[in-house]
Amino acid sequence: MTSYQVALAFEDGITRFITCDDDETVADASYRARINIPLDCRDGACGTCKALCESGRYDGGEYIDEALTEDEAAQGYALPCQMVPESDLVLQIPTTSEVAKTAAGTHRGTVTAIDRHSDSTVGFSVALENRAGLAFLPGQYVNVAVPGTGVTRSYSFANAPSENEVSFLVRVNEQGAMSEYLRDRAQVGDSLEMTGPMGSFFLREPQRPALYLAGGTGLAPLLSMLRKQREDGFAYPVHLVYGVSRDDDLVHLETLEQLSSEVAEFTYEHCVSDPASTAPSKGYVTGLVRPEHVHDGNVDVYLCGPPAMVESVRGHLEAEGITPAGFYYEKFALTGTPENETIEDVPAEVAEPVAADPTSTEGYEIGEEHPAVAESDAQFDARMALELGVVELTVGRLTPEQLAEYRILAEASSPSIDSDHLLDAAAFTDTNAAFHDHLFRCTGNEVLLEAYHRLEVTRLMTQVLRDGAWVDQQVPADHAELVEAFERGDREAARRIVIEHSERAKTTMRAALAALPAGAVR
Ligand code: FES
Repeated sequence: MTSYQVALAFEDGITRFITCDDDETVADASYRARINIPLDCRDGACGTCKALCESGRYDGGEYIDEALTEDEAAQGYALPCQMVPESDLVLQIPTTSEVAKTAAGTHRGTVTAIDRHSDSTVGFSVALENRAGLAFLPGQYVNVAVPGTGVTRSYSFANAPSENEVSFLVRVNEQGAMSEYLRDRAQVGDSLEMTGPMGSFFLREPQRPALYLAGGTGLAPLLSMLRKQREDGFAYPVHLVYGVSRDDDLVHLETLEQLSSEVAEFTYEHCVSDPASTAPSKGYVTGLVRPEHVHDGNVDVYLCGPPAMVESVRGHLEAEGITPAGFYYEKFALTGTPENETIEDVPAEVAEPVAADPTSTEGYEIGEEHPAVAESDAQFDARMALELGVVELTVGRLTPEQLAEYRILAEASSPSIDSDHLLDAAAFTDTNAAFHDHLFRCTGNEVLLEAYHRLEVTRLMTQVLRDGAWVDQQVPADHAELVEAFERGDREAARRIVIEHSERAKTTMRAALAALPAGAVR
């Protein structure tokens, strides 16, 4: 029997790890761990337990379509009451840890090392009393209780999840509670308490090259990811750009240098914004992001830094016309930022992150964006909005010849689909475009037609859909039913079909986007 680790990531940012055997369901393992994930029928019939699987392989088990549709399964949703792991898993559980009657664990340990890298940056390591009790995903953080103060501060792990001791990087400033502790009082042997793990900024299963961008101590979670990847092997190239304000702030260059000399897939560069720096590159991280690092958008960007840095990188990529396949970021609150400091003035560097209480994520903003999906959804939503307008102008008004042509166009896409997958993606895209074009032409309204042609639905479909791709099998039937609604002059039915068809089109595109291989044209 094999056991796997399953991370249950709750909506409030708290993550609990359970051990699940290869012959038990995730729900059974959760209950064994006394974590009440949402459940009702436990039989694959109600859908109450539905959860998004972020990474890992599993047997989805038996269930009915009402509980989990094909579309949802294609998007990565699964039913924990039925699913059995075939590897470690990460599941997004759609409820809070409180509702699941669990909470972030509290972990005690002893400080084993204090590395005063410079006046500005201190690292520390902790040996936990029960190391096995604190599993985490690389990129996550804990809330550390600052000794003698009653306050907590949030720090990302810098170590790999498998390492015995946990380690952190702290930006030292004038008044920070942790800064004061580390600067003036901390001693090896001190007791420390921490609560977690937390956060949704963690390494996803690599599916394409990645660009890591670190500002100051934002290097810590990226170091954790790199250390984990060194253990697992790098499936795709990773390039890191690390930016700080002053030479003094640079840490772990020797760690990065060693990794890049050992691992061909890992490269890095660093920059310092201080004009007086002796670093070879002066300026901000965006100045070191070059086309070979972003792979025409077929890249996962992981970014950890202050808000201004996150926005600056986002703006830079937009200006370059790059839409990354994945954009995962963690923003740290800056402490002591002068009120008149503008975004442009803020250096690519992280001050001490702040969390007001053990369960608070204040001071952090963790996010995930998949603009390729967002762009695709937006295009299909816009097409739907235009089509609903066109229905108003055309239903009940098409000539018999226009209706006959509409039916021919509807039937033309059928040969390119076999049940739920595409036999010929290019033919499907062409015939689908001709079908959707038809009503716009029938309006005789050039302005509407031009607005429709300005959409990039067909371009997106050409780039994303591949032979063999999953497609909602109702798509060709929608075309036929829409023609029938027009033949009856049934406006309400036509509107309903246009709306439902748009949802199915979006789901099909999302599944195709998720399945795009590395190197695919985006
Ligand atoms: Fe009903 Fe899982 S609990 S489907």
